[in-house]
Amino acid sequence: MSLGLRVPRSSGERFRKALVERELFDRSRKIFSDGTHVYLPVLGLDQAALDDLSRLGPFEPADRDFLPEEIPLCPQDLLGFSPSFEQVGDIAIVEPERAEEVASALMRCNCSIRTAISPLSDVEGEFRTRRFRHVAGEVRTTTVHKEHGLRYRIDLGSAYFSPRLGTERLRVAAQVCPGQVVLDLFAGVGPFALLMAKKGARVIAADKNPAAVNFMRENAILNKVELEIYEGDASEVALRYPDTADHVIMNLPHSASQFLGLAMRAAKDGGIVHYYTFAPEEDLYQDRAIIEAAASRLDISVEFLYQGIVRSYAPHRFNVVIDFRANKAGQAGGCSQD
Ligand SMILES: C[S@@+](CC[C@H](N)C(=O)[O-])C[C@H]1O[C@@H](n2cnc3c(N)ncnc32)[C@H](O)[C@@H]1O
Repeated sequence: MSLGLRVPRSSGERFRKALVERELFDRSRKIFSDGTHVYLPVLGLDQAALDDLSRLGPFEPADRDFLPEEIPLCPQDLLGFSPSFEQVGDIAIVEPERAEEVASALMRCNCSIRTAISPLSDVEGEFRTRRFRHVAGEVRTTTVHKEHGLRYRIDLGSAYFSPRLGTERLRVAAQVCPGQVVLDLFAGVGPFALLMAKKGARVIAADKNPAAVNFMRENAILNKVELEIYEGDASEVALRYPDTADHVIMNLPHSASQFLGLAMRAAKDGGIVHYYTFAPEEDLYQDRAIIEAAASRLDISVEFLYQGIVRSYAPHRFNVVIDFRANKAGQAGGCSQD
């Protein structure tokens, strides 16, 4: 039994608020009703409090078996530490260390997680995918992830996707205007491309991974946006669109430098290239020199517009972005070789 107040239902909320304001309401226990009256759990009542509350209307002190309030647990309460994990749709990607324990805590605390997987490899190969092992819940690597009002069907086992780039995608999208042409050379399942298309841009999106391209097609339909999708090598696609793009997105950090010349050719005069790379913390923007060298081979002048860290990648290494404008006005005619 614990202490409570019995008040008519019609004045229940008034009394509850008054108890909360006076720090007398017992949050660890549940309010209940018998139909005509509600029972409010209280921490204590002295004569002064009773006199004070009597101004709100009729009530009577009542000892009752109040049920304990279920306080939501967080994984830290269960584990004793705060686990690092990434959530994509309803899948939690947990670190290999103590994976089972972490997965079980996450699934107890977060009902939106139905599956837990753990990486068996880094992001690897041309298609930038990871291998995973199943840890808990439903056995699958497919899910639907929501980002910026769009939905993405994804298979983490066969195509690249990282929710950690969500803020970066918004930053780039903010620079894109309706009617502009965007060339996304390494589009994956389409998270940059769809966001730009939703803004009214004409988006040409390429990827070499057939699985990623299939998901990108599906995601365009799912979100009712139009994309011009190519399955194939970015260099072939870029060559089809000389001097065309207002924005070229080069999200292939481990080897984007190899495609710089092609990307600059595809940019229109004054077009902006969004270039991603990995760099050591002591020289985050070292690739500016590579960009300038590639531009000078094409007789293009480069104007650096923005540089920033997108996310940490490994100890002392970061995924960085460099935005630059490709100015071609002074370009000599003819065909230059990259
Ligand atoms: C780091 S992922 C980025 C995907 C997407 N932009 C995103 O934010 O989720 C790089 C993508 O480039 C694709 N790729 C790698 N080499 C390529 C190439 N030569 N031509 C076209 N796509 C390529 C991979 O298949 C992968 O989907």
